[in-house]
Amino acid sequence: MADLLGAGDMDMRVGEDTNVHIQEFSVPFRYHVCFTDGVFRPDNCTFMRELTRLEPSKRHRHAVFIDEGVASAMPGLCQQIADYADAYPTVLQLVAAPEIIAGGEDIKNDPALVERLQRRMVDLGMDRHSYVVGIGGGAFLDMIGYVAATTHRGLRLVRIPTTVLAQNDSGVGVKTGVNAHGSKNLLGVFAPPFSVINDSDFLETLNERDRRAGMAEAVKVALIRDGSFFAALEANADQLAAFERGAVAHLIRRCAELHMRQIAFGGDPFEMGSARPLDFGHWSAHKLESLTSHEVRHGEAVAIGIALDTRYSVRKGLLAEGNDERVCRLLERLGFRLWHPALDDRIADGRRAVLAGLEEFREHLGGQLTITLLTGIGTGHEVNEMDTGLIEECLGWLKEREAVSPEPALAS
Ligand SMILES: NC(=O)c1ccc[n+]([C@@H]2O[C@H](COP(=O)([O-])OP(=O)(O)OC[C@H]3O[C@@H](n4cnc5c(N)ncnc54)[C@H](O)[C@@H]3O)[C@@H](O)[C@H]2O)c1
Ligand SMILES: [Zn+2]
Repeated sequence: MADLLGAGDMDMRVGEDTNVHIQEFSVPFRYHVCFTDGVFRPDNCTFMRELTRLEPSKRHRHAVFIDEGVASAMPGLCQQIADYADAYPTVLQLVAAPEIIAGGEDIKNDPALVERLQRRMVDLGMDRHSYVVGIGGGAFLDMIGYVAATTHRGLRLVRIPTTVLAQNDSGVGVKTGVNAHGSKNLLGVFAPPFSVINDSDFLETLNERDRRAGMAEAVKVALIRDGSFFAALEANADQLAAFERGAVAHLIRRCAELHMRQIAFGGDPFEMGSARPLDFGHWSAHKLESLTSHEVRHGEAVAIGIALDTRYSVRKGLLAEGNDERVCRLLERLGFRLWHPALDDRIADGRRAVLAGLEEFREHLGGQLTITLLTGIGTGHEVNEMDTGLIEECLGWLKEREAVSPEPALAS
């Protein structure tokens, strides 16, 4: 039989083994993260410009899904979205009235909803050139992103994040997912969005607790990547604690930039290796969230996790003495509590429940346990072992600090 491979294809074979062919290609990903306000004011071109950026003269079909928390805080939003599409009739086609769906963590625990929405995409005639527009918090965007990524193997997704955490962290990244079989984010897809539009107006209706919680991710990324950003957070701590718009906008923008840079240049955007640098402070945080049945917000748990792993870095001799106090002080000035009674929970054999978070953290990726610690303010450092005795001691330190600390002035 004639050889079907041309001469130029020979280098795709593995060495001398003519039965193994290497398949290799790469696909560049590119998406926009835009910062604006009043995104659905007819004179704001951002949304229209994003949807038309690949095909400027086509009429673009889009379906909008809104987190109920946002829709009830902004009663005119659905009408504004419809009016916006009407203002650009030659390029925008809203395929149905915006649909309002509950928000918050529970939305990620409802497989029937995911199935219903996948079916809805089919009924609306959505295809790979149509846009799913999700407006909401991190949980809502994770869920709607999962629906978009799994329908027709990927509809275009435009995220409009409406919480601090979603604008500076989860909403600008490449992950979607829902909880299943008792595990958080068990079912999910790495699926970069088509566009992200961060509109600062949405944050105005957010409650204090959710506004504050998202700031922990900024402290996290500053600690592992950018010491001068950390110093800026310290300098602006009072304005941030008072949610001054300009200070919060700066925090979100810099945090989102650092997050995006890590994804683009960190060498592992789809987390195929064992390291998760963006998850500094997260091994205990995830566990604390589940120990409290998500009563503790993600960001609140991350603040405690950051304090714990910073203290651990100092006690391990990686980070200079005094930096633990410095980090805790900033978090407290932002209004975070750095202790929760669930950290004292024990399992049957008497071991501390939160310590199981280490193994669960490893299992989520597989491979070797890899925890990010600090060697400086702005410098992350990966280790593959954690000393549980030392973690216990650091937890004791946090608990003692809490016992003598005054209430954070602005805590809700
Ligand atoms: N995909 C990722 O990379 C990634 C990263 C980090 C976190 N997450 C996920 O993000 C979720 C947490 O997200 P979150 O902190 O944004 O909280 P959230 O999505 O749970 O929202 C908190 C509450 O605020 C309401 N809300 C949202 N925007 C509002 C607004 N503008 N005004 C009034 N109410 C509003 C929601 O309805 C909800 O009740 C978790 O599920 C977490 O797993 C995902
Ligand atoms: Zn996080």
